Amino acid sequence: MGATASLPALRLRPWQVDDVDSLMSAHQDPDLRRWLTHTISDDVDAHRWIDSQHQEWAAGSRFSFAVMEDGGEGFAAVAGHVTVKIGDDNSAEVGYWTAAEARGQGLASRALEAVVRWAFSEHSPVAVARLDLLHAVGNRASCRVAGRCGFDLEAILPAQPPAFPTEGHLHVRHKS
Ligand SMILES: CC(C)(COP(=O)(O)OP(=O)(O)OC[C@H]1O[C@@H](n2cnc3c(N)ncnc32)[C@H](O)[C@@H]1OP(=O)(O)O)[C@@H](O)C(=O)NCCC(=O)NCCS
Repeated sequence: MGATASLPALRLRPWQVDDVDSLMSAHQDPDLRRWLTHTISDDVDAHRWIDSQHQEWAAGSRFSFAVMEDGGEGFAAVAGHVTVKIGDDNSAEVGYWTAAEARGQGLASRALEAVVRWAFSEHSPVAVARLDLLHAVGNRASCRVAGRCGFDLEAILPAQPPAFPTEGHLHVRHKS
């Protein structure tokens, strides 16, 4: 994605082993730890997680991207994450996070929109007709990202403790 008058260019690429430090640093943020069901606490977890992204990409079951922001000296910094996890019934689920210092600049919305277009494009390995987006009701920033990216609110999901202690929103975007 190119830069705009006020926003830096973004690049999405598969996660790499070199990203371990950025990944661990992003996962120290309390907001991220509050809203994600799986968080990373140490070097071993980070390596395992990156390895599993590679395996799932190869298996065609999940496609995860590091979102790189052009900090003026090229795309050196990992600023976020966006993922597409293949589900049943011709659908997949999207997920995302933004590093705390990069929030509030439209990064998640821009990265998600790019991944949606890629997922729905003819040559994508994703090949689904529907993308689901789930978030806890209290996660208002995530709800805004869903709205900005054209995911309609389709259902309120009941809490399922311990993984989902509060009600959730199911947002859906269909291939047009
Ligand atoms: C949700 C998250 C990915 C948003 O990342 P971001 O790059 O800041 O997102 P964007 O800048 O594209 O958009 C954020 C929107 O949320 C709004 N927002 C941010 N914080 C908010 C808050 N506490 N309450 C309500 N809205 C909020 C912003 O104003 C913006 O909406 P607007 O464009 O209408 O003003 C980021 O907050 C995050 O990583 N949170 C922790 C992990 C997480 O929750 N992931 C999603 C799990 S479902």
